[in-house]
Amino acid sequence: MDNNSPIGFFDSGVGGTSIWKEVHALLPKEHTIYLADSKNAPYGNRSASEIIALSIKNTEKLLKLDCKLIVVACNTATTNAIDKLRNSYAVPIVGIEPAIKPAALKTSTKSIGILATKGTLSSALFHQTASAFTKDISVVEIVGEGLVPLIEKGELDSPEMMELLQKYTAPMLAANIDYLVLGCSHYPYLLPALRTLLPAHIQIIDSGGAVARQTDHLLTINNLKRAAQTPPNLSFYTNTNTDTLQFLLKSFAGPISVETLDF
Ligand code: DGL
Repeated sequence: MDNNSPIGFFDSGVGGTSIWKEVHALLPKEHTIYLADSKNAPYGNRSASEIIALSIKNTEKLLKLDCKLIVVACNTATTNAIDKLRNSYAVPIVGIEPAIKPAALKTSTKSIGILATKGTLSSALFHQTASAFTKDISVVEIVGEGLVPLIEKGELDSPEMMELLQKYTAPMLAANIDYLVLGCSHYPYLLPALRTLLPAHIQIIDSGGAVARQTDHLLTINNLKRAAQTPPNLSFYTNTNTDTLQFLLKSFAGPISVETLDF
């Protein structure tokens, strides 16, 4: 492993590509490998020990593929497994957590909404962050039950999706939120659908930019940035069929290969 090695990403499925997009935009020279563990999606309703075991499996696969840094492109895996991963492996590991802090600092109505999986909202790490930053703020926490399986099927604005989004945003509108935090890396793909349901003054935020900046920072301080000027290899692997991954990635430029892999 050296600075020419790839950055590895994993998620319970296709959603972490929303994070990959931000990292690739900031670090376009870096080789990347993305693992979509769609066979085991959704992670959100699994126990913490199952989420830890799946996160270890994915990390070990990425390390076998010679990755120099791992991005856990999944809030559910981060909030349940990141300590275990950091204690077990020497490579730098970047996690993703719901962007509660910026929402709590910027809200004028003192009311924010968060949409995330059950696994994230029930994790100890989420509770620590939420209680540290939202003392005088009301937080409407909603479990996005059913959203990840629909996104895995490529359904971003089907009637079923719109019905669920309407149901999940209604209590947030009733609570007069002015920030909606997307606490799952699949959900940025729902932005166009959410925008049709929410008034324009409600800001919708996610953590992709913060993950990209932290990845850049860790590569820099560990002297792991790729210097080569040749185009990077951008590899995407899924352990189910490639259709949704290909569909979501089709808007990105560059030579992108999506393959099926057993992991
Ligand atoms: N992308 C994962 C996250 O950020 C989805 C979790 C799931 O598979 O339920 O939480």
